[in-house]
Amino acid sequence: MSEERKSADFFSECQSLFPGGVNSPVRSWRSVGGEPFIVERGEGPYLFDLDNNRYIEYLNSWGPLVLGHAPSAVIEAVTQQLAKGWSYGAPAVPEFLLGKEIQRFVPALEMMRFTSSGTEAVMHAVRVARGFTGRQKIVKFEGCYHGASDPLLAKAGSGVATLGLPDCAGVLPAVVADTLTVPFNDLAAVEAIFDAYPNEIAMLVLEPVIGNSGYIPPRPGFLEGLRTLTRRDGALLCFDEVMTGFRVSLTSAQGLFGVTPDLMTFGKVIGGGFPVGLYGGRKDVMNVVAPLGPVYQAGTLSGNPAGMAAGLATLAEWTKPGVFDKTAEATSNLVQGLMERAKRFNIPFTAGNSGTMFGFFFQDGPVYSYEDAKRSDVARFKKFFYSMLERGVYLAPSQFEAGFVSAAHTGDVIEATLEAAHESFKQL
Ligand SMILES: Cc1ncc(COP(=O)(O)O)c(C=O)c1O
Repeated sequence: MSEERKSADFFSECQSLFPGGVNSPVRSWRSVGGEPFIVERGEGPYLFDLDNNRYIEYLNSWGPLVLGHAPSAVIEAVTQQLAKGWSYGAPAVPEFLLGKEIQRFVPALEMMRFTSSGTEAVMHAVRVARGFTGRQKIVKFEGCYHGASDPLLAKAGSGVATLGLPDCAGVLPAVVADTLTVPFNDLAAVEAIFDAYPNEIAMLVLEPVIGNSGYIPPRPGFLEGLRTLTRRDGALLCFDEVMTGFRVSLTSAQGLFGVTPDLMTFGKVIGGGFPVGLYGGRKDVMNVVAPLGPVYQAGTLSGNPAGMAAGLATLAEWTKPGVFDKTAEATSNLVQGLMERAKRFNIPFTAGNSGTMFGFFFQDGPVYSYEDAKRSDVARFKKFFYSMLERGVYLAPSQFEAGFVSAAHTGDVIEATLEAAHESFKQL
């Protein structure tokens, strides 16, 4: 690593401008107790900082960049769109094309609406579910993160977990009074909630594979069980696929596990790193959305043509034969390689992946809930994080975040990562 201090100096300037120096809390590195480098540019699987350090990186903008940084196909498509204007506030072709393309892989998305972020998408899905069912309560799982809207911040993952925040100040008790939380992978707890509030629950929402308390997969039968319970009660089942969408498989988590939700949300990959979100699902449910029905929802930049062009070009490359499978294989190799190397040094460690999304915990595991995840050795994670960084590998700066591999992470990049991991585990 270079000895220059441009990143450090610049970050101290940022701290006077932005809370914690950042525009989204987990970027602050608070949970690993340091200061982030300042990005100068991204290229393929690498980030470069202001001090000319190069990092192999496994965040990919926290998921969206399935092709790595600045792929030429996306640059070209967005540039072409920019020449025609980038925001019309009127219907245009790109939103139709992207909607159709997403629907081709996720047919349960019978009708949809684009938003500008994942937060908005889930926030609006909650309103739609309440408007459709006439019920008030929603059920979510401990450690699942669904964006930063008020009703969904109860026992959330991501920054809320990373920073160990108990609850969010400024959220009125009345606003979360109808948010019920249960442990992930605990079907009996979900059944008990439905027994306690029959015909009162509008929607059960979850990350079908958790990525916001670290990587936590569903136990076999869990998603199917949720489908049965929600259907029996008349509650809507919503898969928040903002992270898992086009990441765990091309047909997303619902295709991978063969469980079809009533409502679903997307973001991240579908915008190729531009600010794009989406919610939708059953046509009869979406019929309540204005102007068809009484549930109001709107957005000045929704369906933004530049974002749509980025999403379309990203999906065109990502869905080419073999691209996803090869990236998923690279992800499995990374995960297996990490486990083998940790074992060499007798370090309690568990890791896993679904498609191109992965995670690891410094504990023996298995990890099936946020409670399990919290048993990890975070001090050890912190040492590992910095040791990897020192060797030019940038991992998510928290034990409670997932990692992402892109098509630009070729075999030699994975191998270089595993060499860094070997040296890092040796020093723990
Ligand atoms: C599962 C899930 N839902 C919703 C969101 C919120 O999306 P955004 O950050 O685009 O508002 C995230 C963000 O990480 C997410 O992972």
